[in-house]
Formats: sequence, C-alpha cells, structure tokens
Amino acid sequence: MALSPWLMQELAPWREAAQHKGLRWQVNVPSALPELTLDADRIGQALGNVISNAIKYTPANGEIAIDAGEEKAEVWIRVRDTGVGIPPEEQARIFEPFYRGTTGRRFPQGMGLGLSIARDLLVAHGGRIEVENTPGAGSTFTLWLPARLDYWQN
Ligand SMILES: Nc1ncnc2c1ncn2[C@@H]1O[C@H](COP(=O)(O)OP(=O)(O)O)[C@@H](O)[C@H]1O
Ligand SMILES: [Mg+2]
Repeated sequence: MALSPWLMQELAPWREAAQHKGLRWQVNVPSALPELTLDADRIGQALGNVISNAIKYTPANGEIAIDAGEEKAEVWIRVRDTGVGIPPEEQARIFEPFYRGTTGRRFPQGMGLGLSIARDLLVAHGGRIEVENTPGAGSTFTLWLPARLDYWQN
C-alpha cells in the first residue's frame, strides 16, 4: 500500500476536527514513502487514537504537527502537539489499559484504552509506538512500522 496518499486521506477528517477546535494544523509528509504491507483500518485506528488525544489535550490556539519519514528499514509517523503534556512519572503507564493520567481524568470522554489499543495494533504489525515529552510544551508520539513485513517475520 502506498503510504503517503493513504496518510493524506486518513488525515483529512482529523484536520477538520482540529480546525473546528481552533487548533493550527501542520502536515509534512514526503510523497515518496515506501509501500507498506499493513492493515489500513487497524493502523488508521491506531493513528486516530493518537491524533484524537492530541486534539483533546491541546487547548484552542495550540498546534498539531504531523510528519512522516523513513529511517533504515522503518517508516515513522510523528504526531506533535502543544498541549498540556504528560508528567514524566506518568509516561511509563499511559500505554496500560484503562490508565488515565491526571489530565486525562479531567476529560469525561475516554476510558484510558486508546493508547493501549494503538500500541497493540502497532506491535501486531511488528512496529511500536513511542512517547517523548517536553513538560509544559506538549507531547510527541511516534508510530514506527517496519518497511517490509518479512523484516520481523524472518
Ligand atoms: N497528546 C496528549 N497530551 C497529554 N496527555 C495525553 C496525550 N495523549 C495521552 N495522554 C495521557 O495518556 C492517558 C491515556 O491515553 P488514552 O489511552 O488515549 O486514554 P484517554 O484519552 O481515554 O484518557 C490520558 O488519560 C492522558 O492522561
Ligand atoms: Mg484517548
């Protein structure tokens, strides 16, 4: 599957949701990413879980920036926001089922499952998801996928 056109199509409704909330929306996806063998619905769900968090946890006038690229035998998709961020002591737990952070608990919508599902879907593809945090300056999540499925099957 050609990743770049799929990604642009997948991002369109999220751009609308972000702009509706008054967030700036930046996308920088090179047109020449490798073809990937993946379950588009599942990876779309994983990406959507991460982007919906970025929208939820970023107050109006903030920014969401999405980049993608290729590194060695992997492709990455990065979602950065300028929102409330994640306290360092909570970062190790946010991928656990039903875990909601201190900020997460302030939002009635959500059960703390989004990131654990996203992680499982990435792992099922031989990939992974990572969080980086700049306290007070938002959150960054990176989804990694093997550029070739046989990279992890062999
Ligand atoms: N972009 C983000 N900015 C700040 N906190 C986040 C972000 N994404 C996730 N979190 C934190 O991680 C927790 C787990 O996320 P998730 O599994 O999607 O659950 P939910 O959004 O239902 O609370 C959230 O409760 C929140 O504390
Ligand atoms: Mg969520």
